Amino acid sequence: PGGVLVDALSRPLHDLRISVTDRCNFRCVYCMPKEVFGKDYPYLPHGELLSFEEITRVARIFIAHGVEKLRLTGGEPLLRKNLEHLVAMLRALPTPSGRPLDLTLTTNGSVLARKARALKDAGLDRVTVSLDALDDAVFKRMNDVDFAVSDVLAGIDAAHAVGLGPVKVNMVVKRGSNDDQIVPMARHFKGSPTILRFIEYMDVGASNGWNMDEVVPSGEVVRRISAELPLAPLAANYAGETAARWRYLDGGGEVGVISSVTGAFCKDCSRMRLSTEGKLYTCLFATRGHDLRALLRAGHDDLAIGGAIAQLWRGRTDRYSETRTADTPSLERGARKVEMSYIGG
Ligand code: GTP
Ligand code: 5AD
Ligand code: SF4
Ligand code: SF4
Repeated sequence: PGGVLVDALSRPLHDLRISVTDRCNFRCVYCMPKEVFGKDYPYLPHGELLSFEEITRVARIFIAHGVEKLRLTGGEPLLRKNLEHLVAMLRALPTPSGRPLDLTLTTNGSVLARKARALKDAGLDRVTVSLDALDDAVFKRMNDVDFAVSDVLAGIDAAHAVGLGPVKVNMVVKRGSNDDQIVPMARHFKGSPTILRFIEYMDVGASNGWNMDEVVPSGEVVRRISAELPLAPLAANYAGETAARWRYLDGGGEVGVISSVTGAFCKDCSRMRLSTEGKLYTCLFATRGHDLRALLRAGHDDLAIGGAIAQLWRGRTDRYSETRTADTPSLERGARKVEMSYIGG
C-alpha cells in the first residue's frame, strides 16, 4: 500500500470490528427488544455468513492497510460454532510492523466460563464483557431472558483466571431502568482487576425506541459515583479511545465513561466494521453497507480487494454522533440504521 491510509477527515484506519453472528441468546431492551426480535425474526441464513477462511482473508488485507486491532463481536460471538478456530487463524496473521495484533472480543459473558480456556489457548488477548446491573431483578429486566448476574460474574472470573484480563465490563445506562445500579456496580468492581465502563444509551438501529430522556449523561454518572467514591480524571491510553478514564482518589483503580451522545468521539474514529455476511460499514450509524462478499466470491485477488477497501476508507466522511441532535432519530426513522446486534458494538 505505501503511506498511511487516511479518510476524508484525515483519520487513519486502525481498528476492524468483525461481527461473526447476528444472533444472541439475550434480548437486551436497548438492543434486541422482544417485540422486534421475536421467533419469526429473519436472521441471516447460514450460507450468507462469511466463512472463517473469508474472514481471515479480509483481516489479512486490512492488516496490510494499517489495521492493528481486531475485535470480534456479534450478536453474541460465542454462539458462532468453533469460534476459537477463527481466533487461532487470526492470531497466526503476520503484521507488517512486527508489533503483535491486538485481538479482542466483546461478549455478554453467558458462556464465557465454559469457553475462556479455549479462547486463551487459541491466542485471544482479552475480552470485554457486557453487564448492566449487579442486582438480579434489574439485570433480568435488562436482558429479558431471565439470565442471572452470577453466571456473568463467573465468566469474568474465568477470563481472569486463564489470563484473558484485565477484563473490561461495559454497562449501558438507561434512565429509570438501571441507573440505580451505577454506584453498586462501581463499588463492586472498585479495587478489582476489572475495568468498569459506563456507556450512554445510544440511538443505534431502528428498534429500541430511543429517547433522549432515557440517556444518563456521563457527567452525571461521574458525579453520582464521585459523591460516594471520589474520582479524578486520567489521561487517555491512546488517541481515539472511546472511554474517558477516571481514577479513584484512594487508589481503588479506574472507571471509564463512553459518551457517544453527550461527547462524541468521531474526530479520532479509526474503526471499520465488517458484518456477518461481509458488508463493510464505515460508521455504527450507517444505513448502508458495502458488499465486500460479492468481491471476495467473484474471484478478485487481494490487490483488487485491498484497492476497494482503500477507496472506501479514503472517501469516508462519517461523523454521525457529532452531528446528531435530540431530534435526529425520529427524523431519520424512515432511513433504517443497521441494528447493533447485526453490526456489533
Ligand atoms: P478498548 O478500549 O480497546 O477495550 O475497546 P473499545 O472501547 O474500542 O471497545 P468496546 O467494544 O468495548 O466499545 C465500547 C462501546 O463503545 C461499544 O460497545 C459501543 O457501545 C461504543 N462504541 C465503540 N465504538 C464506537 C463508535 O465508533 N461509535 C460509537 N458511537 N460508539 C462506539
Ligand atoms: N446503546 C449503547 N450501547 C449499546 N450496546 C448495545 N446496544 C446499545 C445501545 N443502544 C452495547 C452492549 C455491549 C456492546 C456490544 O454494545 O451493551 O456492551
Ligand atoms: Fe445480545 Fe449484546 Fe445485544 Fe444484549 S447488547 S441483546 S447481549 S448483542
Ligand atoms: Fe465513528 Fe460513526 Fe461512532 Fe462517530 S458515530 S465514532 S464516526 S462509528
